[in-house]
This record gives sequence, C-alpha cells and structure tokens, in this order.
Amino acid sequence: MSKDKVHIFDTTLRDGEQVPGCKLNTAQKIVIAKRLDELGVDIIEAGFPVSSPGDFKSVEEISKVVKNATVCGLTRAVKKDIEVAAQALKHAKKPRIHTGIGTSDSHIKYKFNSTREQIIERAVDAVKYAKTFVEDIEFYAEDAGRTDNEFLARVCEAVIKAGATVLNIPDTTGYCLPEEYGAKIKYLKENVKGIDKAILSCHCHNDLGLATANSIAGVINGARQIECTINGLGERAGNTALEEVVMVLKQHPTLNLDTNINTQLLYSTSQLVIENMGVYVQPNKAIVGANAFAHSSGIHQDGMIKNRETYEIMNPEDVGVNESAIVLTARSGRAALAYRAKKVGYELTKIQLDSVYVEFLSFADNKKEVDDNDIHTIIKSSNLDNSIVA
Ligand code: KIV
Ligand code: ZN
Repeated sequence: MSKDKVHIFDTTLRDGEQVPGCKLNTAQKIVIAKRLDELGVDIIEAGFPVSSPGDFKSVEEISKVVKNATVCGLTRAVKKDIEVAAQALKHAKKPRIHTGIGTSDSHIKYKFNSTREQIIERAVDAVKYAKTFVEDIEFYAEDAGRTDNEFLARVCEAVIKAGATVLNIPDTTGYCLPEEYGAKIKYLKENVKGIDKAILSCHCHNDLGLATANSIAGVINGARQIECTINGLGERAGNTALEEVVMVLKQHPTLNLDTNINTQLLYSTSQLVIENMGVYVQPNKAIVGANAFAHSSGIHQDGMIKNRETYEIMNPEDVGVNESAIVLTARSGRAALAYRAKKVGYELTKIQLDSVYVEFLSFADNKKEVDDNDIHTIIKSSNLDNSIVA
C-alpha cells in the first residue's frame, strides 16, 4: 500500500528566527532557504514581510532563488499585511500567503476586544482578500490549542468556503496533550463541511516538551502537514523539530506516512543553521545532538559492538552522521577499550587487554573522556611485552 504524504512546512526563517538574538541577514537566509529546498521541504515560510523592510527583502530574494518548494509569507488578518506579502512573493514559482487571527476566547477578549462573530468575519475577509493575489492560501487559527472545538470548526468551515486551502491549527502556547491535540484534529476532520478540500496542518510549540508528540498525534488523526523548524528553534521553548518528526515517520513504517525529506542531509542542515544562527543544540538532542549516536556505558558499548541494533533504532548514516561513537570513559568496559584500541592500530590479546584495562581505569578516573592520544599513552605505560605495535 502506498504511503500518504505528510507535507513538511519549514518555518525556521520565520518562527525559528523569532529566537532572541537569532536575527539573520538576507544573505544568510538565502543560504538556509536554498539548503531547505535541497533537503526536500515542501513549503518554506520565508518571513513576515510587513514586519520590516529587511524581512520584506528576504522574502523577495528567497522567492527568486527557491526552485522546488512553495514559498510562504506570514500576515495578520490585515489588508496592508496581505498586500505587502503578495508583493514580496511576486517572484515565487509557487507563492503561498499564510494569514490568520487568534480564535481562543482569551485572544478574542484580551487581544482583540472582539466577539466570536466578528473574528469569523475578519478571518473570512482576510482569506478572500489574500485569494485575490494568490491561489494557495493557508489560514492559521492562532491559539487553536485552547480554542473550543465547536467554534474552531465554524471558523474552519467559513475560511474553507472563502478559499483557504490549508488550515493551520496551532498549539501556540504548547499546552495540549497529544491525545487532546489528536482529538482536535479528528474532530475537525469529522465535523467541518468541505474539509476534504483542505489540508489540516499541525503547528505545535514545545513549552511542555510535547511539540513532536503532538504533531505526530495530529498526523495520525488526519493532518497532512507539519510546521516545524530545524533543531526545534523558535519562540520560548521552540517549535516542533523537523528532524524529529521526519525520523519518527521514517522509523515507524506502520504509520504508513511519508515525507519528501532527504534524511541524509539532516545533520549537515542542522550544523548550517547552528553556524548561521549561533544557537547550539544540547548534546543529548534527538537526531542531531553530539551524543545522539554516542555510547559510553560498558553494558551499552558491549551490546553495540556485538550488534548495532541492540542500542540504536536508526542508522546514523540515514541522518548524515558518519558512524556511531564508542566513547571511552571510566564507565566503559573491556570490549569498548579493545574496539577503540584496534581502531588506532592495537590488536590486544586477552591478557594484554586485562593489563591495559587496569591502567585505563586509573587514567579515566581522572579525565572525563579518553581520546585516541590517551590510548597510545595508556598502552605505552602498561606493563606489556614488545609484541604490541601501533
Ligand atoms: O504559533 C503560532 O500560532 C504561530 C502563528 C502565527 C502561525 O506561529
Ligand atoms: Zn508559532
């Protein structure tokens, strides 16, 4: 059975760039946009054109160079925003306007001092106006995560009628539980008239560390687009990490869902974004962290050396990491030491290994990590006969 496609909507250059201190210039944005296109993302959200002349220019320049992906510009449900976005996108082969408004009671009351009926009216007007510029219109119901499902369904139905082709259901505050977010998507699939004419999109923030789980719950329940960023960058605790959702779908074939991403470019793309934005990922970050394929405890190392699958559920090469690392620390065992010693040229017999291991442990107790140079030092200072050569 052929797998259903989940569209990957990358918002590193818009939501991701909202990280304090992460501002990118146009040249850097172009480099990243070209790489995202090569990576195989379906949509690149290039910026929020009305927000500044710099962002306008970035969206305009990105529109000129992107070859395959749809290029998208964000707007509020405001005429001027929509006009400016349409102008910035005019060179794009496949332009999309992403417009929307807050739909939760809290947004309606405190942000807009408005009513539910007026919000629907503004949403419909924005979509209709955007439709006069481009065909592809995505509507976001900001704070959909905390919006009453019945009202959200009414908003969705109205904007589909007005011409929206994608419906973004953001968990703006990262509050939803996966079951709750999944149920929201299912409710919309089952209760919005005309939903078969539109794609539901997950846009989950990570305030409770649930962004990836919520996005996956969304696609299991019928959404077919995930909005995400490289390294999970974004406001506060960030957005859904692109590399995580893509690998979840790849490693779980029973979900029958697929993306167009060339996963072998994931690690180098993560590095490119780190270099340009100057925000590092934690070492234990899934998929792209420095320790994602590193093994340091003796029990794990022994299992890994016997068979990689004992402790790894994916092949590092599939995400562009050369190989798994067997890290030598005071918690490492003989198998790891013999493995690493062999890599630097020592074939140790069992008796030699016993002797080197004693030396290794006292060395490792005083150093966080034992490297290749240390292995030479340890072997030289071990009490061995001359048969051991590097
Ligand atoms: O988190 C959010 O609600 C957003 C919208 C502007 C799409 O980023
Ligand atoms: Zn967001």
